[in-house]
Amino acid sequence: MPEPRTFRDHPVSFVRRSGRMSDGQERAWAALSPLYVHDVPRGLAATSVHPDARFDPVAVYGREAPLVVEIGSGQGHAIVHAASTRPDADFLAVEVFRAGLARTMLDADRAGARNLRLIEANAPEVLETLLPEGAADELWIFFSDPWHKNRHTKRRMVRPGFGATAGRALRDGGVLRLATDWEDYARQMRQVLDDAPELERAFDGDWAPRFDGRVMTAFERKGVERGRDIRDLAYRRVARG
Ligand SMILES: C[S@@+](CC[C@H](N)C(=O)[O-])C[C@H]1O[C@@H](n2cnc3c(N)ncnc32)[C@H](O)[C@@H]1O
Repeated sequence: MPEPRTFRDHPVSFVRRSGRMSDGQERAWAALSPLYVHDVPRGLAATSVHPDARFDPVAVYGREAPLVVEIGSGQGHAIVHAASTRPDADFLAVEVFRAGLARTMLDADRAGARNLRLIEANAPEVLETLLPEGAADELWIFFSDPWHKNRHTKRRMVRPGFGATAGRALRDGGVLRLATDWEDYARQMRQVLDDAPELERAFDGDWAPRFDGRVMTAFERKGVERGRDIRDLAYRRVARG
């Protein structure tokens, strides 16, 4: 009998910050999580997703509509803005940072957005098993942690193999959008995604134009203040054979 596994076989792209939330965030969690948080059965770790768990968009949102998934949604600025301005679509925020999820719910509630759900989990597992294959019309990854020290780059979310992970979750013709202020990571993203047979570039030239639906966040502002170029990328899911 093989020993049961007690750890993931690859480092995750986050270090879990303290679980402590402010009193306001605790209150937001208690009041709003029944509306917004989609609980998932766990596997080995607190932020894992049990491999047998499934997310059924029609059951969750109560309708059939385009689904936009944001990975690492942080405080939720981009996805709350999108959900409140696009009532025709459904939105899913995937994040491991609890206080960020609490803030996202507060802002979503204030904006009256009911077409948004939040999942507290390691995003690649959501894309690889939780979502039905081809469920997402768009996948967004904005300012993914750059893990810029050499000994840490293996933690980057967009690493070799990520094209298949994203490609599984996207419908044919669906779009993966990324932005980063870290040049070296931008180049790695472009190389990894150019190499993925599931995806094709959805831009001309070296980089994609800034995506209209992306609102300015603290991460982008900091990058600009430090004189960094902001790089956008966009890839389309090629039709399954
Ligand atoms: C640099 S922040 C950017 C947040 C937001 N996208 C923005 O632009 O303001 C990256 C976020 O990704 C989240 N994150 C990193 N790895 C993740 C993973 N594997 N699953 C879910 N969230 C993750 C982190 O917790 C963090 O909040």
